[in-house]
Amino acid sequence: MNFIESLLVLVVAGLAAAWSPKNSYVPSTVNCPDDIVLVREANGLSDNETEWLKRRRPIAKEALHDFVKRATKNFSDNSLVDKVFSGNDSHAPVVAIGASGGGYRAMLSGAGMISAFDNRTRGADEHGLGGVLQGATYLAGLSGGNWLTGTLAWNNWTSVQTIVDNTTADDSIWDISHSLVNPDGVNVFGTADHWEHIFKTVRQKHKTYNASLTDLWGRALSYDFFPSLYRGGEAYTWSTLRDAEVFENGSMPFPISVADGRYPGTSVISLNATVFEFNPFEMGSWDPSLRAFTDVKYLGTKAVDGKPEKKGECVAGYDNVGFIMGTSSTLFNQFLLRLNTTGMPRVVKSIISHFLKDISKNEDDIAVYSPNPFLNTSYVSNDYTSSLVDSKDLYLVDGGEDNENIPLLPFLQKERGVDVIFALDNSADTTEYWPDGSSLVATYERQFGKMGKDIAFPYVPDVETFVAEGLNTKPTFFGCDAQNMSDLAFTPPLVVYVPNSRMSYNGNQSTFKLSYSDNERLNMIKNGFEATTRNNLTDDSNFAGCVACAIMRRSQESMNATLPKECKQCFQDYCWNGHISHNGTKIQHNDDYTKSASPSATSSSKGGASNSYSPRSGLSLFAFMVTVAGLF
Ligand SMILES: *[C@@H]1O[C@H](CO)[C@@H](O)[C@H](O)[C@H]1NC(C)=O
Ligand SMILES: *[C@@H]1O[C@H](CO)[C@@H](O)[C@H](O)[C@H]1NC(C)=O
Ligand SMILES: *[C@@H]1O[C@H](CO)[C@@H](O)[C@H](O)[C@H]1NC(C)=O
Ligand SMILES: *[C@@H]1O[C@H](CO)[C@@H](O)[C@H](O)[C@H]1NC(C)=O
Ligand SMILES: *[C@@H]1O[C@H](CO)[C@@H](O)[C@H](O)[C@H]1NC(C)=O
Ligand SMILES: *[C@@H]1O[C@H](CO)[C@@H](O)[C@H](O)[C@H]1NC(C)=O
Ligand SMILES: *[C@@H]1O[C@H](CO)[C@@H](O)[C@H](O)[C@H]1NC(C)=O
Ligand SMILES: *[C@@H]1O[C@H](CO)[C@@H](O)[C@H](O)[C@H]1NC(C)=O
Ligand SMILES: *[C@@H]1O[C@H](CO)[C@@H](O)[C@H](O)[C@H]1NC(C)=O
Ligand SMILES: *[C@@H]1O[C@H](CO)[C@@H](O)[C@H](O)[C@H]1NC(C)=O
Ligand SMILES: *[C@@H]1O[C@H](CO)[C@@H](O)[C@H](O)[C@H]1NC(C)=O
Ligand SMILES: *[C@@H]1O[C@H](CO)[C@@H](O)[C@H](O)[C@H]1NC(C)=O
Repeated sequence: MNFIESLLVLVVAGLAAAWSPKNSYVPSTVNCPDDIVLVREANGLSDNETEWLKRRRPIAKEALHDFVKRATKNFSDNSLVDKVFSGNDSHAPVVAIGASGGGYRAMLSGAGMISAFDNRTRGADEHGLGGVLQGATYLAGLSGGNWLTGTLAWNNWTSVQTIVDNTTADDSIWDISHSLVNPDGVNVFGTADHWEHIFKTVRQKHKTYNASLTDLWGRALSYDFFPSLYRGGEAYTWSTLRDAEVFENGSMPFPISVADGRYPGTSVISLNATVFEFNPFEMGSWDPSLRAFTDVKYLGTKAVDGKPEKKGECVAGYDNVGFIMGTSSTLFNQFLLRLNTTGMPRVVKSIISHFLKDISKNEDDIAVYSPNPFLNTSYVSNDYTSSLVDSKDLYLVDGGEDNENIPLLPFLQKERGVDVIFALDNSADTTEYWPDGSSLVATYERQFGKMGKDIAFPYVPDVETFVAEGLNTKPTFFGCDAQNMSDLAFTPPLVVYVPNSRMSYNGNQSTFKLSYSDNERLNMIKNGFEATTRNNLTDDSNFAGCVACAIMRRSQESMNATLPKECKQCFQDYCWNGHISHNGTKIQHNDDYTKSASPSATSSSKGGASNSYSPRSGLSLFAFMVTVAGLF
């Protein structure tokens, strides 16, 4: 071995150390301190998040200030801007962005929306909202929205512009012109090769930990999200991000993925479901039914009350990035499992049943986290069921299954001090697969239920009003006046609702459209950009200024500072005025489970035919998967 080679080995070994310890999908044991406690009570931000915020805040503040200055350049009075950004601590308005679920539709349309806030997008400073993303503190994704935010964050904080510019390159990110579901036309050997590795490693994991269909799903998706990494990042872990320079130094927002908990033996997910978040440091829930977080890096460790069963021995590598992204989007498992196998050849069926025998047969649409990191933890107060902490395994499902299809809960924790939320909604609520505000309504309602006592969310109208007043066809602000919300648990953030709507392209594609040509992909992204920017500011040249007003609103209120007259006009134009146009007619609502990767609370029980996916193409994936499985 010459010098260069040994250097290379050193470098590679150094890198691998942060990844899965055996450099594989299969987790393995590592040393950890004898007295380590892997779980903490959710009684505030983690020390690590607090430390990280110290690095993020000054950077976000400067970027946000730049955006606001640009957007308010023509205002008659700039004293508010000066006041809001003048404090010499690094505290500025806390901006959060949440990207909804909805399969590839949500990923692509959401990508266009996020690119409108990203100053790295060509044109975003001139006719968009470029810089808001640079000024954001938190960025959450759910299901398809999490594919988007996860792809950006775990690819060294790449940009949508870079992905778009690279569409034609080999190994480009989001090359979904040939879907997983329809391998015809892809390099079948390449794909078969992928599946072979996928099945092998998932089986290997299953020898020690209970695997689920989500392991296969997450691994398969990863090839689209991390094409530059070995086997789509089979050894790439969620906690690796802590060591990525761009995260460590605070140059990107804090990424969060949302999933729902499911009690053992139940299948109905309602607003009472425990909502989990995964961030680069921790996973767990703020909800009173758990109130605990665990170190995400050591998921897979058998522990009681957070203390590893074997002193000094932890498991690492369980937190594979694709697995966690798959966890937030398990609805696709339901899609796979609802396939009509009647027409399948007997031999294929027998392979299916043979393979699925091992893998969580009864609990198909879940991601199994086994063992349960929260076993016997004691932070649940008495009036909540404790079954989440009694169970050996933890079951998580698609974050949209409780109908809260935009990941907002992480932003509604008082400790995070969020001032404004950009709620990007690509749900398919209506029968035409457009959003109708259902997700905001669900989150609004949650605060009055048993699980919502610690959150606050602005008043929103019912879905009928959303539709009747067109609140679901252009950006709308909710919670513009803090003084009108004094009966809520605390002053909630102002919510800028950004619904998917048609500008230059029909962005209302089916959740189960699983392949997009390069052209369709670009058009979806472009439409998302335009929907977010009021058609590139041509429908309203003041819109960027209005977004700046929304960002500064809470600071302005708490300082009791004078509101510029332009902001007053903006709030008249964009704030929901409290009007209800509910005339008693129920609007027709898409209640089947395809609506958003988010079945409504009532439809989460099995049944309900989909009207949108093609069983034929689905069948080919499944037949294909199991055929490959049969090769072993
Ligand atoms: C985007 O904003 C950041 C933070 O303000 C700045 O450092 C960077 O140079 C900007 N990039 C572009 C392409 O404008
Ligand atoms: C400011 O006004 C000028 C002239 O009316 C206009 O061209 C420009 O787009 C405006 N800028 C903003 C940020 O509104
Ligand atoms: C920072 O704030 C303190 C107290 O509010 C003030 O005395 C000081 O002059 C400020 N420093 C700068 C550089 O603005
Ligand atoms: C809006 O801006 C985006 C990004 O710069 C661009 O791709 C798109 O073509 C523009 N749309 C229109 C209608 O000009
Ligand atoms: C991120 O950047 C580092 C250093 O340049 C590189 O080693 C790594 O492979 C990159 N990760 C991804 C997912 O591209
Ligand atoms: C495009 O993708 C290729 C191959 O993955 C990569 O080498 C290149 O750096 C990418 N270019 C950009 C602009 O991201
Ligand atoms: C949530 O739980 C409460 C109390 O157990 C119950 O009254 C309510 O109906 C539940 N809500 C839903 C949507 O299941
Ligand atoms: C928090 O940060 C410390 C120091 O970097 C690290 O040792 C620890 O594992 C981290 N804990 C979590 C839960 O992220
Ligand atoms: C399944 O497919 C068979 C024929 O392929 C058909 O007869 C049957 O009605 C289908 N069942 C359902 C539930 O769609
Ligand atoms: C795996 O699941 C089985 C059946 O649900 C259970 O008995 C077993 O304890 C689980 N294994 C682990 C490691 O949790
Ligand atoms: C009630 O509202 C719906 C939805 O906007 C509308 O289609 C319908 O015509 C209205 N009905 C009456 C009686 O006004
Ligand atoms: C806010 O300012 C207005 C006038 O500038 C004043 O009338 C009002 O009392 C102030 N409110 C508070 C809470 O300070």
